[in-house]
Amino acid sequence: MTEQTLVLIKPDGVSRGLTGEILARIERKGLTLQALERKNVSEELAREHYAEHAERPFFGSLIEFITSGPVVAAVLEGPRAIAAFRQLAGGTDPVEKAVPGTIRGDFGLETQFNLVHGSDSPESAKREIALWFPEFPA
Ligand code: CMP
Repeated sequence: MTEQTLVLIKPDGVSRGLTGEILARIERKGLTLQALERKNVSEELAREHYAEHAERPFFGSLIEFITSGPVVAAVLEGPRAIAAFRQLAGGTDPVEKAVPGTIRGDFGLETQFNLVHGSDSPESAKREIALWFPEFPA
């Protein structure tokens, strides 16, 4: 079933010059880029995006990190796109969970600075695409 998912290349990925490498992996997998934009993230957008983590102890530093520099936001499309991107990304913790060969497993060391975000369900994808690309066709 064709799905869409929202992906962010976080400020660490952008500032380290990994945007091209990450987009190349996405395209090689066969997922297509339906929207792509480099954005400065307002605190309001960051808080809305990560609303489900508002009570977590790391929320403040997560918001500070995600607003610290530009991100690259994308809408990806393809069969099982949500799971397919999460497979490419690897687990949240780049050392304990993500394995080599994944984006986080190859390039990350710390859980907060884990390079990419991908929607975790069809409901999250719908909400996050509307948030980051309000003009994008539903
Ligand atoms: P992401 O997939 O974008 O979803 C929530 C983000 O919070 C996660 O990636 C990490 O960047 C961050 N995060 C999750 N758990 C922790 C943690 N224990 N400490 C710091 N940051 C975390």
